[in-house]
Amino acid sequence: MKSVTIQQPEKLVIEERAIPQPLPGEVRIRVTCAGICGSDVHIYRGHNPFARYPRVIGHEFFGHIDAVGEGIEKTRIGERVVGDPVVSCGHCYPCAVGRPNVCAELQVIGVHRDGGFSEYITLPAQNAHVVPDSIPDNEATMVEPFTIAANICSQMKPCTLDTVLIYGAGPMGLTSIQALRGVYGVKEIVVADRIDERLSMAKANGADWVINNAKSDLKNELDALGIRPTLIIDAACHPSILPEAITLASPAARIGIMGFSSEPCVISQQAITSKELTIYSSRLNSNRFPMVINWMTEKKIQPEKLITHQLAYTQVLEAMELFEKDQRKCCKVLLKF
Ligand code: NAI
Ligand code: MN
Ligand code: ZN
Repeated sequence: MKSVTIQQPEKLVIEERAIPQPLPGEVRIRVTCAGICGSDVHIYRGHNPFARYPRVIGHEFFGHIDAVGEGIEKTRIGERVVGDPVVSCGHCYPCAVGRPNVCAELQVIGVHRDGGFSEYITLPAQNAHVVPDSIPDNEATMVEPFTIAANICSQMKPCTLDTVLIYGAGPMGLTSIQALRGVYGVKEIVVADRIDERLSMAKANGADWVINNAKSDLKNELDALGIRPTLIIDAACHPSILPEAITLASPAARIGIMGFSSEPCVISQQAITSKELTIYSSRLNSNRFPMVINWMTEKKIQPEKLITHQLAYTQVLEAMELFEKDQRKCCKVLLKF
């Protein structure tokens, strides 16, 4: 089989590998479609602190089950499935309280173990989620990015009274907008980004107001709109954002962060406690695949709006560079295997 492997930082090859055999409790997927994510590029560039090399990348993948390991029903063969990249131990504290995404022995597919940019992948059977026939292959490949939004929203519990501010209109910001609009029905959504084309996408995905915070002052613009956000999601993940969000937030607001920067930022207790703010963080997803598959089945979200490019896996290098360099035109780039 062919696999897209990062042999070491800056060295991507399409290599021939033996087709893996599913272990007991596992299934094998014949992958046909996969999505490129920022973290794939980070592993390629050597900027992901968790990655070990050589590594087959890719954690957004779709295909059908073509083999099962011992203990798994043969009837699963042929199922159309998407893979949850979160592989957890099932018995540590986070696993016991329903948060396998921060399992003490967390293994993320495509990061800690080989990923889905490959013709075949094996993974625990419970990580392969069936997709109804009404959801086309490309859209099914988008389940994982939406689980990130599902996870942060499940923690923050958006409601119809909420005025939302989202920083960043990349894939993470856009999936959040769609979920907040289509699933949670929040009152209004404001999006800040530094790129006008991305702000246009934010509008097309359901934002009521967009602000280019490279060109104008965010606080002034919000004041002019009479907006005091009650729920803020940082989907841009710059360390300067949390302190600003704390200042902009309404009393009793919730703030959600998703960044992995190790750079410190300065925040004060007074600014948080005087408004009794709640700060959430969210990593990957904790069993949110069934939730997002339901959203898609019920057409509450429109994953197709995020797909801007589709290439053969043989053009993976070109696809990764396009994704990395052309933020004005690119959102989700899919690879066909
Ligand atoms: P992206 O790079 O495509 O989008 C980020 C957007 O934020 C860009 O459009 C950029 O112009 C904008 N931006 C940058 N600085 C800004 C600022 N100061 N104010 C407003 N906008 C600003 O990235 P993507 O894929 O949407 O992911 C966003 C972030 O989420 C990344 O940092 C990524 O590491 C993180 N992430 C976290 C996950 C988690 O589970 N915690 C999962 C996936 C991504
Ligand atoms: Mn992803
Ligand atoms: Zn665990």
